[in-house]
Formats: sequence, structure tokens, C-alpha cells
Amino acid sequence: MNAYDAARMADVLGQQGYAATDSVEDADVVILNTCHIREKAAEKVYSELGRLRVLKGERRAEGRDTRIVVAGCVAQAEGAEILARAPAVDVVVGPQSYHRLPELLEQSRGKRVVDTEFPVEDKFDRLPVRRNKGVSAFLTVQEGCDKFCAFCVVPYTRGAEVSRSVPAVLAEARALAEGGVREITLIGQNVNAYHGAGADGEPATLADLMRAVAGIPGIARIRYTTSHPNDMGEDLIRAHAEIPALMPYLHLPVQSGSDRVLDAMNRRHTGDAYRRLIDRIRASRPDIALSSDFIVGFPGETDADFADTMRLVADIGFESAFSFKYSPRPGTPAAERADAVPESVKSERLAALQALLDRQRHAYQNAAVGRTTEILVEKPGRHPGQVAGKTPHMLAVQVDAPAASIGTILPVRIVEAGANSLFGEILAEAAAA
Ligand code: 5AD
Ligand code: SF4
Repeated sequence: MNAYDAARMADVLGQQGYAATDSVEDADVVILNTCHIREKAAEKVYSELGRLRVLKGERRAEGRDTRIVVAGCVAQAEGAEILARAPAVDVVVGPQSYHRLPELLEQSRGKRVVDTEFPVEDKFDRLPVRRNKGVSAFLTVQEGCDKFCAFCVVPYTRGAEVSRSVPAVLAEARALAEGGVREITLIGQNVNAYHGAGADGEPATLADLMRAVAGIPGIARIRYTTSHPNDMGEDLIRAHAEIPALMPYLHLPVQSGSDRVLDAMNRRHTGDAYRRLIDRIRASRPDIALSSDFIVGFPGETDADFADTMRLVADIGFESAFSFKYSPRPGTPAAERADAVPESVKSERLAALQALLDRQRHAYQNAAVGRTTEILVEKPGRHPGQVAGKTPHMLAVQVDAPAASIGTILPVRIVEAGANSLFGEILAEAAAA
């Protein structure tokens, strides 16, 4: 979602005559779009601000002005602390207020400004028409979360769950398609809880929304992320069998395989409930590739709890996953607990889990060798004459093909699995056409 927000901030400033630059030294305005989910991400902001302070000083000595903006969830959660710790910062703006960036920059002449309100107006209504250069784009359809997992800051930083209306999403999706986008990933912190109003005013489900997006000319592929297991409704599971443009890939965080830990995390489901859910999803779409998020070392997690997580991973089999050491976050219930897991134990568990997940990822990639599939070509490849694209199952593939193929879907045979990507060749029939 931060990638989406960053693109939208660029749109807002683009309308004011600003252009993006690759070099921070050239920038009149530097925006740090920040993440508060784990301590490491949040702390990185302050070290980056230290570097920017030096840059700002050098530029001032040359008589030039550099505005420094902190946006995103660290801005939302720690606005006052940022001002106190980072004197170089001119503007602090939360994730619900960045449509106001032009005014805030204007106000920041001579004083420091903070906007971390949850404004009554909807930022999406104030953002300019979407401008996008890529083949694949994110589109926020839902924001915020009412789940209150015991470890998570999202309900506090992004606020309560809000869904955009179906017409608003479709208008943005059409603008993307007109700009050449072929693949849209519908995003939200809890995207499968989507319940935006349809054109008739009645609430629509994520499956309804995806059916409508699939009807837009030019849109070949749809994905969605991130979902909560308890919101995988029957119609969404069925959608995986029924909507051809909906790709066979699902990111469905489970966090832990231990019922005791899941309960303490306030996830409101068990490990077996997750297994049964995956069975139903696989019954609907047998080739679906699965991805997940895991936290190791949640307070009170024992060796036996961790063994349950390893067992769940072994039972299900993931194509890819993100795994993290538990990081206590201020203001969350879990941060109050006295039974923290020692850092060394967290490290051991994370290494063991990641080794298992890596084996599964490699097995999945190796199993693709020899198969034929289709890739959506997204960008130039690593070597001249190559392009890079993704399979429906999100595997990255490099093939020899002209740059003109970017934005098209090519049938390919996977011939080799490298460390991080697959190599393919265009099927002869397509190459001859
Ligand atoms: N510590 C570690 N990982 C966390 N996540 C969320 N909060 C924390 C935390 N306090 C992880 C979860 C979530 C992903 C986006 O980040 O796995 O699914
Ligand atoms: Fe955080 Fe996801 Fe839980 Fe919401 S459902 S509180 S975003 S981990």
C-alpha cells in the first residue's frame, strides 16, 4: 500500500508542476514514505532523516531550499516525536491526508506543519486522475482494519476499515487500463472484507468488484492482497474458479500454526480451521499458489508452539512467504506482555522457518521447469535482448524477446530455474506468429 500511496503522492505533486527525480541531491522536496509495522522499519526513518539533515545543510549553504516531508504510518503514529528528534523535517503528513500535500508544503514556508488527522473528506475524491507508466498497478480498494490482532499497529495507524465504492474503483481501474495497465492488484489491509457500495448503493463483495474490473477492456489479470482467513467468503472462493482473469495465487497470512498462540494473537481461528479453508480453496482452484505471513517469537511462544507452525507449513506447502521476528509495537496489547521470547530464540526459530519456506519455494520453482505457461511481460530483463514477466502463479521469468513485447502476454516454456528467477523460451507457434 505504501507503493500505491507513493504513486498517488507523485500524482498530486505532478499536478502542481513537480517532476520525479532519481537523485535526492536534485530534489526540492524529499518525501520519506514510512512504515510502522515493525520497529526496524520505523527506526530506519530516523537514520535516513539524519542523512537528509546533512544534505539540507549543504544545499542551504548553496542558497537552495530542500523541503523534507515524512509521510506514512510513522508520521501518523509519531508525529510529535519526529518533530522533536529530526529538526530538518518541514512537514509530517499521515496516510489519510496526503491529498493536502500542496497546501502543507505551502504552509511550511517558515514553520513546521503536521497533519495527522483522519479527515472527514475522502482523500480518494481529492486525488487527481491516475497516471501510471507500468504494465502492472496497485489499486487501493479498502483501507484500515477492525481486526485488532494483538501484535499489530495497523488498526491504530490506518484507522477503521473503509471500502471505496465500486464506481470509484472502476473509474480508477479504467484510467489505468487506458494508460496501458494490463494487470491490477486490488489492495487493502483487509481486502477480502471489502464491502463498498455498488452503483445501486447496495454493498458489493470483493468477488462482485473483481467481476466488474474483469470486464474493463485491456485488463487481463487481477490479483488481490492482503486477506484475513476469516473473511474468505464462499463467493470469493468460488470466484477463483469462475473469473478467468483472477490469477491462481493467494496471499493469506496465518501468522502461526499454534492454536494457543493464534488465540493470544486474537486471530480468531485455529490452525485446523486454516487447513480446512485451504482445502476448500484448493477444491475451487486446484492449482492455486499460496503465500503467507508468519511471526515467530510472539510472547509466550514455546518450542511446542513453534513446532506447530513448522507442521502447518509442511502440511500446506507455500510457494512463497514473508516471515518475521515478533517486534513489540507501542500501544498494542501484546507489547504489554512480560513473557517475551529471547532474541536468540527468535533468531533460531526464524532461521529454521525460513529454511523450510525456502525449500518449498525452490521445490515449487523446480517443478515449473518443463511446463508451458503464459507470462505477462512487465519490463526489460537483466540482460540485453531479454524481457521479464510473471506467470499466473507469480513466478518471475526471463525470456529472450524484444522490448516491444512489454505489456503483452506470451506463451512460454520454462527451461531452467535460477536462484531467484526462471528462464523460459517463447513457444515456437507464438514466435512464428
Ligand atoms: N511484529 C512482527 N511482524 C508483524 N507483522 C505485523 N505486526 C508485526 C509485529 N508487531 C507482520 C504480520 C503481518 C505483516 C504485514 O507484518 O505477519 O501479516
Ligand atoms: Fe494487522 Fe492484518 Fe491483524 Fe488487521 S488483520 S490487525 S492488518 S495483522
